[in-house]
Amino acid sequence: MSSQQTRWFLVTAVAALVLAAWTGVLMRFGMVYGFPSWAQNFGAMRHAHSHLMYFGWVTLALMALIWADLPRLTGRQLPRGVAVQMMFTAMMALLSFPAFWINGYGLTTVGAARLPLGSMAATLNGLTWFVFMALYVRATRRLAVRPPSVQLWDWALALLALASTGAIGLIWMVATNAREPLFQQIFLHLFLDLFAVGWFTLALLGVLWAQLNVQQSRLPIFSLALLLTPTFLLGVSPGLLPTSLFWVAAIANAGAALLLGVHAMQLWRRRNELPTLTWLTLGGLASVIGVAFLLLLPEVWQRFASGQMRVFYLHIFLLVWVSTALVGQLQDRLAPASSLIHRWVNPLWVGGVVVMVVGLLGLGLAPWLGTPMLWWLHVSAWGSLAAALAATLLLVALLSPAPARTALAAAMSPQ
Ligand code: HEM
Repeated sequence: MSSQQTRWFLVTAVAALVLAAWTGVLMRFGMVYGFPSWAQNFGAMRHAHSHLMYFGWVTLALMALIWADLPRLTGRQLPRGVAVQMMFTAMMALLSFPAFWINGYGLTTVGAARLPLGSMAATLNGLTWFVFMALYVRATRRLAVRPPSVQLWDWALALLALASTGAIGLIWMVATNAREPLFQQIFLHLFLDLFAVGWFTLALLGVLWAQLNVQQSRLPIFSLALLLTPTFLLGVSPGLLPTSLFWVAAIANAGAALLLGVHAMQLWRRRNELPTLTWLTLGGLASVIGVAFLLLLPEVWQRFASGQMRVFYLHIFLLVWVSTALVGQLQDRLAPASSLIHRWVNPLWVGGVVVMVVGLLGLGLAPWLGTPMLWWLHVSAWGSLAAALAATLLLVALLSPAPARTALAAAMSPQ
């Protein structure tokens, strides 16, 4: 894959971030001021937002970065077919947005048929990930030395494959009309949670270590992958999960957090070689680690596992840690000297993301703080607006030629 193609896939990922972020802003302001007549199906909108973020933003960006760094780490050319796989992955990810927007995972009437458009889009996306895995195995098989990044990506793909079996389990339950709620929840969270916690975390750490060009180290990799695997059980409703499984998941989660702490400390030591936003990225990771220890208290998990605190936790993980790291990577690789990014994108992103998650935390704690929910809804809505503006300006910066970026930044600066 040429560097020009890598650039285009990364720009497409940012375009997905922009569309999904504005959908998030619509939901946040909708919760304060009401929804417009053309956006009444909140559940479907939420699915459109989260699936485009997962498939079009994070997954596409991670795959493009892995393909970009792999030849340097392996000393081999990429196998043929990578650009075609990336094209299909990008197309299917973008297609998931209208598919989910119409009716989420429900049935939609198309002519004489009633089709589950969301599930169909998710399945097509999954097929392109299996092609990615097959190409990756070809690109890395029988390497004499596997650098830490390659090992992290090996396990990231193993957990991506394992997460996909959750989707197969869900389809099996529908096909056999099985109605066991515990299994339904286990398959659902195996798919959704392991996808994020397994694939995103390990693949992203691999990208960060690849940027630092680490060839050998004693970083925990296999043990981290192993401990991350059962943590998806913490997503299952507290009323359904047997206590023994809770303890397996909570202890594994705390162990994984300790090992993530080792990665975070090593990355912090080398922060000067990483993008400017690294302090926020690692701040997000530190919060994820802190939450893992709080979840060792069963009451905390039972009280906060669902509802607003879950939304808060998801955005600490997905927005502050994963997305900020990716935004930093993209800037560094595609427009390192852009004054538009340094003057506008970064302050707006940092301010927006921090205000939004503070608002979400306030929402989750409002019943205990005794503050009106509406205050916090306002805070998270205005924070989300700044974050979406930052993403949009990042896209503008990546699409403009360098001189235009400088002129735009100058025009936006106060005289
Ligand atoms: C500008 C940034 C973002 C905004 C404004 C935003 C907004 C929202 C809103 C309003 C919800 C629904 C909350 C509720 O039901 O109470 C939501 C849910 C969610 N968001 Fe975001 N979000 C943002 C970034 C992200 C990112 C970067 C990701 C993933 C990479 C993400 C993944 C999710 C997921 C998985 C859910 C839960 C979906 C579900 O339960 O069906 N969000 N977001």
